Amino acid sequence: MANTNLSNRRLRLGMVGGGKGAYIGGIHRFAARLDNHYDLVAGAFDVDAARGHAFAAENFIARDRSYSDYAAMVEGERDREDRIDVVAICTPNHTHYPIAKAFLEAGIDVICEKPMTTTLEDAVALHELAQATGRFLGVTYTYSGYPMVHEARAMVARGDIGKVRVVQVEYPLEWMATGIELQGNQQAAWRTDPAKNGRGGSIGDIGTHAYHLAGFVTGLKAEAIAADLATFVEGRALDDNAHVMIRYEGGARGLLWSSQVAIGQSNGLRLRVFGETGSLAWHQEHPNELLFTKLFGAPETIKRGRDELSDDTRARTRTPPGHPEGYIEAFTNLYSGFAAIIRARAEGRDAGPMGEGVPASYDGLKGVAFVDAVVDSHEKHSGGWLVPRFA
Ligand code: NAI
Repeated sequence: MANTNLSNRRLRLGMVGGGKGAYIGGIHRFAARLDNHYDLVAGAFDVDAARGHAFAAENFIARDRSYSDYAAMVEGERDREDRIDVVAICTPNHTHYPIAKAFLEAGIDVICEKPMTTTLEDAVALHELAQATGRFLGVTYTYSGYPMVHEARAMVARGDIGKVRVVQVEYPLEWMATGIELQGNQQAAWRTDPAKNGRGGSIGDIGTHAYHLAGFVTGLKAEAIAADLATFVEGRALDDNAHVMIRYEGGARGLLWSSQVAIGQSNGLRLRVFGETGSLAWHQEHPNELLFTKLFGAPETIKRGRDELSDDTRARTRTPPGHPEGYIEAFTNLYSGFAAIIRARAEGRDAGPMGEGVPASYDGLKGVAFVDAVVDSHEKHSGGWLVPRFA
C-alpha cells in the first residue's frame, strides 16, 4: 500500500518526457527544487528508451525507477510503497491525453503541460476523469505564476480600475520566422505537425497562454470569438500568426495576437487591461513591474516585493524589490501551488494563498475549447469579411 501521508516529507515526483535536449522538462525540474517541495525519483524521460535511461542515470534516478515508457512507469509505480505522488508530463501535445489518463486511473496526481490535449473531446474526457477519480490535475500556464500578475488580478478584483472595458493581450515570438522545422529543429518539428500539435499552430502553442493570462487577471469569461489565422512560412501546415477578437461577459472587448513570426520579439507576452477608472499593463520581459494609471493620472510603477501588495502576491515573492525574480520563480510558484493543493487535499484543509488561482483541469479544458473555437471561426465562418469601398 502506498504511503500517502504527505505531512512530513517532500512529494515524490515522476516525469514523462523532458529528457536530453528537451526544452520545458528542465524548467520543471528547477521549479520542483527551488521551494523544496519535491524529490524527482522516477521517470520515462525520452521517446527513445536508451536515451531516457542514460538521462535518468545522469540525474541520479535509481535504475529500477527509470522506465522505458510511460505505461511501464504506471505499472512499476502504482503498487510501490514509496510510489510517486505526482507525475509531470513534459511531452509533445498529442501524448498528454493517454499519459495523463493512465496516471489518473492509477490514482496518481498529474501536472500536465499546455495545451492540455490536442482535441476538445479528449480535454472534456480528461477533465471529467480528474473529477471522477478525485485526483488533482494541474496545468502549467506559466505566466499565472508571476507575482505581479497576481497583483494585477487582485487589483482588478478590488475595483482599482473600475469595470473592465478593453483587454489587449499579445504573445509574439520570432523563433519560427523561417522554416526551421525542416532544418532539424526538434521543438519546431512537432509544433508544425497537426497530428502532434493539434489544430491550432501559434494559437495552440502560445495563444493558449495569452488567453489564460487575460482571463486570469480580469476574471472575465469569453462569450464569443472571431478569428483570423495566417501561415506566413511557406509549406507550414498550421497557423504561425493569429488575431482573435473576443467578446467577454459584461460587454468587455478583447483582442488577442499570437505570432511565431514576429522578428525582434524574444518572448514578448504583454497584457493591457483598460477599465472605467484606470488601466494596468504588464510585460513578461519586465515581470517585476506593473504599470497602473488612474483616469487622467500619471502612470505609476508598482514593484514586486513591496509590503503593501496583496497576500497572494507576497506569498509568491522571495526577494526584496531591486533583486529581480523571473521565469524560474514564476514556474516555481506554480509548482508550489500544486504542492499546496495536493497536500491540502490529502489533509482535508484549505490550500491557503499558494493555492489561489492555480490552473487546473478546467483551465486546461477552456484553453483547448478556445483553440477549437478559433480554428472553427477561421475555417468555417470567414464570411464576416467586408471589402472597403475605397482602399
Ligand atoms: P521538446 O521536443 O523539447 O521535448 C519533448 C520531450 O518529450 C523529449 O525529451 C522527447 O524525447 C520526450 N517524449 C516525446 N514523446 C514521449 C513519450 N511518448 N514518452 C516519453 N517521452 C516522450 O518539447 P518542449 O518544447 O519541451 O514541449 C513539451 C511540452 O511542453 C509541450 O506540450 C509544449 O506545448 C509545452 N511547453 C510549455 C511551456 C510553458 O511555458 N508552460 C513552454 C514550452 C513548452
